Amino acid sequence: MGKDVIIACDFAGKEEVLSFLDKFTGRKPYVKIGMELFYAAGPEIVKEIKARGHKIFLDLKLHDIPNTVKKAMHVLSSLDVDMCNLHASGTVAMMEAALEGLVRPDGTRPLLIAVTQLTSTSQERMESDLLIEKPLDQVVLHYASCAKKAGLDGVVCSPLEAGTVHENLGGDFLTVTPGVRFANGDIGDQVRVTTPARAKEIGSDYIVVGRPITAAADPVAAYMRCVNEFCD
Ligand code: C5P
Repeated sequence: MGKDVIIACDFAGKEEVLSFLDKFTGRKPYVKIGMELFYAAGPEIVKEIKARGHKIFLDLKLHDIPNTVKKAMHVLSSLDVDMCNLHASGTVAMMEAALEGLVRPDGTRPLLIAVTQLTSTSQERMESDLLIEKPLDQVVLHYASCAKKAGLDGVVCSPLEAGTVHENLGGDFLTVTPGVRFANGDIGDQVRVTTPARAKEIGSDYIVVGRPITAAADPVAAYMRCVNEFCD
């Protein structure tokens, strides 16, 4: 599977995201629709962006009891997205139920990946707030192995952890990695970050990039910089 750059389109509504996407007249970016845009604009925005020819990662990070997640995934499966996700901390049983719910009547389904630990979480926060007193990379790997056991396609993790995940769980178990910043860029609320070029070296399959592209003076140039550093 080819490497790709996914733009996190964290916008407040339909007009903002469509006028942002209008700027991309050449290569059509893979688009991530997260909670902010989905809660504001609903399933219609997913259909509209899909109809414009973009691949879509629907990043709603489900986390609930297995039956609820299974039914929610069944609803999402009809949206024709390419990738969706949940929190691995919901347990293997929840992930298995999600996968069942996601299969469409014709037997196809979007890729399903699990969030391990958010890239905004540090070792200290994980210990003090979540009472998980193990090294963060071990926690990520354990959550990733649970996701693999449940039959998922891969995980969301920091690019810094992508190499360990591939070494232990195989080269075709996908690593989708937010927490990407240009050298000298502002890291904002992210903690476990690296550059697109380094993410490529470590072995990420997809980088997810939000503010370094959406808040850039020239978003298309910033996107192409990511593509050139990461994909080529
Ligand atoms: O703007 P920035 O590049 O930090 O955006 C990263 C995107 O990836 C956000 O939409 C955030 O919700 C998402 N994300 C993340 N860490 C995860 C999972 C998703 O930052 N573990």
